[in-house]
Amino acid sequence: METLKAVANRQSCRKYTGEQITANELQIIIKAANAAPVGMKKYEEVKLTVIQNSQLLNKLDAAGAALFREPDQHPLYGAPTVILVSAKIQQGLPNSISYCNAACIVENMALAATDLGLGNVYLYGVVAAMEKNSELCAELKVPKEFFPASAIAIGKAAEPFQERVLTDNNIATDYLR
Ligand SMILES: Cc1cc2nc3c(=O)[nH]c(=O)nc-3n(C[C@H](O)[C@H](O)[C@H](O)COP(=O)(O)O)c2cc1C
Repeated sequence: METLKAVANRQSCRKYTGEQITANELQIIIKAANAAPVGMKKYEEVKLTVIQNSQLLNKLDAAGAALFREPDQHPLYGAPTVILVSAKIQQGLPNSISYCNAACIVENMALAATDLGLGNVYLYGVVAAMEKNSELCAELKVPKEFFPASAIAIGKAAEPFQERVLTDNNIATDYLR
């Protein structure tokens, strides 16, 4: 798929078949994450956690549902793989560069997953739930000096992609010429 086609066709997938992605697909997605821009190349300040263990996925799903007070909701949408991006805490606080780094990393993974024909969706809700749950952070192996910044769910989409075209009218844009 051409780059711009992947950019246009990337879309949030909220229905998965449950079938796991292959090891090769995962490796390509992790390589795409590693190709993302990271401020001042401080790669040691970001960390990825690939979560495919169904018990851990269920715990994360339940924590997200509890945060939204919607016990019947499934904020992971049944996706079999979640990749968490954590970032180093700076001077006791999450810092904004970390969120910028995490967003670039997630987007690279989303584009790679789209190129591979896999469904994917950026997740922040479950990350917000983790922020308040140090036990779950520990279970998901987020190091003590890191915080969860963003995540992506990936899997085989239960419904086909909607073909999309590039547009310039979603985001208000001023041109200063
Ligand atoms: C920072 C960020 C956080 C998001 N968090 C969630 C989330 O927790 N759950 C979810 O279903 N979608 C989440 N999304 C997906 C957006 O809702 C989605 O990208 C947006 O509606 C545009 O739709 P599209 O992705 O199909 O283009 C998030 C997207 C971004 C960029």
